[in-house]
Amino acid sequence: MSNIYPSVNELHDKFRDINEMGIYLHIPFCTRICPYCPYNKEIFKEEVCHNYVHAVTKEIDTYVPILKSIPVTSFYIGGGTPTTMLKKGIEKIINHIYKHLNMNCYVHMESHPNHLTAENLEIIESLNVKYLSIGVEALQDHHLRALERPYTVNEVKQNIDRAVNRNFDCVNADLIFDLPGQTESEIEQTGHDIIKLGVQQAATYPLFRFPYTRFGEQSNNNRNKIITMFRRRKLMKILEDIFYDSDYYRSSVWAFTKKGIDKYCSVTVPLYVGFGASGSSYLRDIFYVNTFNVGEYIKAINERKSPVALSVNLSEEMQMAGWLYWRIYETRFKKSDFYQRFNAGFDEKYGLQMEILNRLGYLKNSNDKINLTDKGAYWIHAFEDFFSIDFINKLWGSSIQNPWPDKVVLTAN
Ligand SMILES: C[S@@+](CC[C@H](N)C(=O)[O-])C[C@H]1O[C@@H](n2cnc3c(N)ncnc32)[C@H](O)[C@@H]1O
Ligand code: SF4
Repeated sequence: MSNIYPSVNELHDKFRDINEMGIYLHIPFCTRICPYCPYNKEIFKEEVCHNYVHAVTKEIDTYVPILKSIPVTSFYIGGGTPTTMLKKGIEKIINHIYKHLNMNCYVHMESHPNHLTAENLEIIESLNVKYLSIGVEALQDHHLRALERPYTVNEVKQNIDRAVNRNFDCVNADLIFDLPGQTESEIEQTGHDIIKLGVQQAATYPLFRFPYTRFGEQSNNNRNKIITMFRRRKLMKILEDIFYDSDYYRSSVWAFTKKGIDKYCSVTVPLYVGFGASGSSYLRDIFYVNTFNVGEYIKAINERKSPVALSVNLSEEMQMAGWLYWRIYETRFKKSDFYQRFNAGFDEKYGLQMEILNRLGYLKNSNDKINLTDKGAYWIHAFEDFFSIDFINKLWGSSIQNPWPDKVVLTAN
């Protein structure tokens, strides 16, 4: 990826003939920093937050003329911790978006369990948030302590209960599994407990160790990785069985959603624009990322400069591969959607590969539909650990270190 990015005029062209968009808003603040977390964040400071609100609304304004007629059908607010900005300006940003863009959807938003007081939940609901995610992570006190999460199991359970009893369409609980020393019976207990709490969805992530985080400094050689892969398969299978028995289905590689409920998820449409520090945008043949540094982001916007730090042009072949990767990630898709997007037959392009994966039991390949199997989902997990972490580590690691990198080379080690 290089530091050459599109001008506003070039962007105008790229938005032509797009009939729906997603938007992503990044809130890069947390009240404290967790030792395993790879995301772009810094400690919340009132004054920086105030300037951030101003900068983000100005960034949105630069897109209004080119975006205003395109229906926005997916809106995700992630972080960091979006709920650090409740009553501190997030309301202003969300209202600005609903006022100036062509919004056709509700908000999906991440939250920290400690912020879910009755008063805050009421504010969250008033902001069009219908899909709320809670960073629960674990349901044993000793694991919460090891993760340095600032609450007990009793406290987090009370806060989940409060959220579940509001009127959200879907409350998602994030859980991290394969924690140091975690036993199979602890995983089993966590699965049963989270279902008992009544969440409509659980997202279960294995603990990823990004080299630039404190947890990542511990050794993670390839031999360890293989042992880890088999242990994770076992733990994942325990969770799958518990969720399937309770009428949840796999709604993405990581998530299990109650049948009949609309899933909580990040941006669902293929093309999207990202606002804020480290916000990323994908517009057919280009992917670009804003600077990760909050101070530099604010400064660039105030000086009327572009906040984009890195961008990459994508060939048709890369766009197709990217499309396929994300659809497989969602575990099911229609081949006709590929035709609609690229004006090319899916089977002509990928038919042979899909048939091989079908015979190996990784997916089910029918006339118009592809469905990933549990075995296939497991291999995507393994793939993530071996390759994606490497890419993310290079892109995010370099961008956190240097606000304006000249270029980042994304090759697998
Ligand atoms: C941005 S945080 C969620 C909201 C809020 N900041 C919090 O921590 O409660 C997104 C989620 O990513 C997951 N996550 C973060 N670091 C991870 C890691 N190293 N491995 C696996 N999952 C991780 C956690 O489940 C976390 O809830
Ligand atoms: S896990 Fe959540 S609270 Fe912890 S540092 Fe990351 S974004 Fe912040």
